[in-house]
Amino acid sequence: MTSTLAFLARVCIFLVGVEAVSVPSTAPSSAASVDSALLSISLEFFTFPAYAQLASTTNCLAQLTTLRGTSPAVRIGGTTQDRATYDSSLSTAVNYTVASSTDAPTSLTFGPSFFTLAAALKGPVTIGLNRQLDEQGNTQQAAVKALSSMSNLYAIELGNEPEFYASGSPIIPSSGWNPTTDGASQKAWQTALAPSVGNIFQAAVYLQYPTWSTTNLIPLLGSAITYTKTFSGHSYPQSACNGASTNLQSLMSHSGIVSYTKQYNAEAAAGRAQGKTYVLGDTNSATCGGGGISPTFGAALWIVDYVLQAALNGISRLYFHQGTIGNCQYCFWGRYTTAAPFYGAYFVSQFLGTDGHTVSMLDDGTGTLATYAVFSASGAPLRVLVLNSAYFNGTGSRAATSVPLSGLPGADGTRRALRMSALSAAARVDQSGNVTIGGGLTFTGDCVSAGTQVFESVSVQSGQATVSVLASEALIVFL
Ligand SMILES: *[C@@H]1O[C@H](CO)[C@@H](O)[C@H](O)[C@H]1NC(C)=O
Ligand SMILES: *[C@@H]1O[C@H](CO)[C@@H](O)[C@H](O)[C@H]1NC(C)=O
Ligand SMILES: *[C@@H]1O[C@H](CO)[C@@H](O)[C@H](O)[C@H]1NC(C)=O
Repeated sequence: MTSTLAFLARVCIFLVGVEAVSVPSTAPSSAASVDSALLSISLEFFTFPAYAQLASTTNCLAQLTTLRGTSPAVRIGGTTQDRATYDSSLSTAVNYTVASSTDAPTSLTFGPSFFTLAAALKGPVTIGLNRQLDEQGNTQQAAVKALSSMSNLYAIELGNEPEFYASGSPIIPSSGWNPTTDGASQKAWQTALAPSVGNIFQAAVYLQYPTWSTTNLIPLLGSAITYTKTFSGHSYPQSACNGASTNLQSLMSHSGIVSYTKQYNAEAAAGRAQGKTYVLGDTNSATCGGGGISPTFGAALWIVDYVLQAALNGISRLYFHQGTIGNCQYCFWGRYTTAAPFYGAYFVSQFLGTDGHTVSMLDDGTGTLATYAVFSASGAPLRVLVLNSAYFNGTGSRAATSVPLSGLPGADGTRRALRMSALSAAARVDQSGNVTIGGGLTFTGDCVSAGTQVFESVSVQSGQATVSVLASEALIVFL
């Protein structure tokens, strides 16, 4: 019975044709620049020392570094940065107690060796410090220690998602807490700390756009904006808090990703108008550690499309958040598994490569098919990405879309292509649902490559080729 059904599913596969995708011969003026650390990583503050001990942390960061030629940036922060107190005499990096190893502490201390570990990271590092507890002297002491310990220190945050500070938080003035009083507080703290650490602050650090926004904060900072280095917004397309239901089909929808990510265009532009970059400093698929959609192959496809849309909207970096080890649905890696989302991070990094300078979307952003080209510094098209965001959940027929490409540079002949695939969008590596890149490449639990990539061959005649991409699958064509 099962094999009959499998056979029927196979013969039911049908082809969907689409209009030709025209690849520009040179980068259009609308092509967006690609930061060399566009895809970066955020590590939850209290558990950063534990991440620093994992081989998978070193190996996953090294994988992305090899693909892009530059180390990802790392931001160390999150909710627990606002529960942390610096203790200059603490012999360990962090000290806290929790009832269960999957809990985050409600309070913790950290010591000088926290910064020694951060200094060992290869990329630029942003450190998130405490504002909620209103211990400005303590935060200043920590900031000064970070500066003297870390040659890779990039920026310092003063507080995380202040809109969620509980009503009794020491930082909250008697006049109450709202974007205006928070703006005054960010201004006062940057002004007080800049003389000892410089113009190094990553400001805003809000989740709840548009009520809390960089656009709104800028006039509140006034002249203190001199002390601001970057602006950060946090971005989660879905919520998994308190058992909220999540939806994979809408997470990975190309048109959904295009319209969701566009909301940050104005934020990035507001930062740029002040000469500052704008980052998504803490982002992933669903809040509160992620939901059932977060460890899936569909989330890997979401990452590919979302990262490219972020670049197109003027966002310089996205820091994908990694939370409590062992209790984190959206994490790219942990102690035992390199999860499906990492495959998306790997695949989009391979698409951008060491030579990807600008990126363009080749479709109009309203369909299920996402198509992009990446261009070299001299504007030559290097690679085309075709991502079919149609949702395939593993049952029924899996449609293949036949995509004609035109305008491909170079002589007639063949080009190489790499496919990222899995049995369905719902596939999870931790449930034996293997994801592969190029047929054979997977990653061990330590994020070491296992198997090899096999390139497909695409025939090009007169600058034209046709590729076929299944529902919930993606393909890179190397030009
Ligand atoms: C860690 O904190 C506990 C109290 O929570 C304390 O008893 C212990 O001495 C601290 N450890 C270090 C190394 O300071
Ligand atoms: C998968 O999709 C089919 C229709 O395409 C639906 O009948 C089925 O219930 C879905 N299965 C799951 C597990 O969502
Ligand atoms: C996933 O890969 C493992 C190891 O290669 C293999 O044992 C397993 O059968 C694969 N699972 C699927 C669903 O293909």
